Amino acid sequence: MKNDQPNIFYTVNDLREFLAIASKQGKRIGFVPTMGNLHEGHLDLVRRASDLSDIVVVSIFVNPMQFGPHEDFDTYPQTLNLDCHALAGYDCAAVFAPTVREIYPKGLSTEIDVPRLSTILCGHHRPGHFKGVATVVCKLLNIVQPDIAVFGNKDYQQLQIIKTMVEDLLLPVQIIGTDTRREPNGLAMSSRNAYLLECEKQLASILYCALKKVAKAVQDNTQIKATLRQQKERLISAGFVLDYLEIRDAEDLSMTYVESDTAVVLVAAKLGDARLIDNVIVDLSK
Ligand code: PAJ
Repeated sequence: MKNDQPNIFYTVNDLREFLAIASKQGKRIGFVPTMGNLHEGHLDLVRRASDLSDIVVVSIFVNPMQFGPHEDFDTYPQTLNLDCHALAGYDCAAVFAPTVREIYPKGLSTEIDVPRLSTILCGHHRPGHFKGVATVVCKLLNIVQPDIAVFGNKDYQQLQIIKTMVEDLLLPVQIIGTDTRREPNGLAMSSRNAYLLECEKQLASILYCALKKVAKAVQDNTQIKATLRQQKERLISAGFVLDYLEIRDAEDLSMTYVESDTAVVLVAAKLGDARLIDNVIVDLSK
């Protein structure tokens, strides 16, 4: 069944009442957590959730806990009406758009931490970020109690942290990862691309080129170190402030990717006002 406009719920109670009926009818619930300002990448996740479940819930919540003190919480684009329009026709039955007080009624007391995975790569550059992500995703999963929840491979470290949390806390939900949706020039879609000037959007496409070059070197097992160095230099001389460009094991994000079946090349870099992240997965079993 296609819904023209999703129902919007602002409180946990209202959403739970709505979902209780669906659960009683034996419907499988699919969940897509977002911070809104939806683009085609988000909509891919909704489509995937809809393929795998009977009823899809999308949450739109800009989570203050995952933003650092000097980050863009105050300016993060909030476009609830447009988002609901974008979801029309996408088989999304419910949008959950809570206030901060609804999610953190007593402020912050309980936190979810996935220690090792949360302190490396982006976690090193954004201390506390993944604690904020894990805590809010755990709360949202408890509220929605979905059968499946869909996340993007674009935020690869986030996805691994959530999978680890779900496994460790024995949460009864299946976590699904979905491919990264890109602009025609290769730039991974992101709400934060709105911070880029038009010329920066063009330039930003070389992030993906750099990832593909390193991924090819890893796949071919030739000139890996030299390629990594060249691509870092290329990004820096193009004007990026590079946080990291690294090759890791795709499962535990350790540096010992050589021994595993799948590696991932990850990048994070600032360009103008935007911090961009992206990655490419390399199948080493071939
Ligand atoms: P947000 O950045 O809005 O992303 C919501 C979901 O969309 C995440 O799973 C993310 O990986 C996915 N996504 C973003 N860009 C994508 C793209 N180009 N292609 C495919 N998927 C993409 O990630 C968050 O929000 C938050 O941290 C959240 C998990 C909601 C917790 O607050």
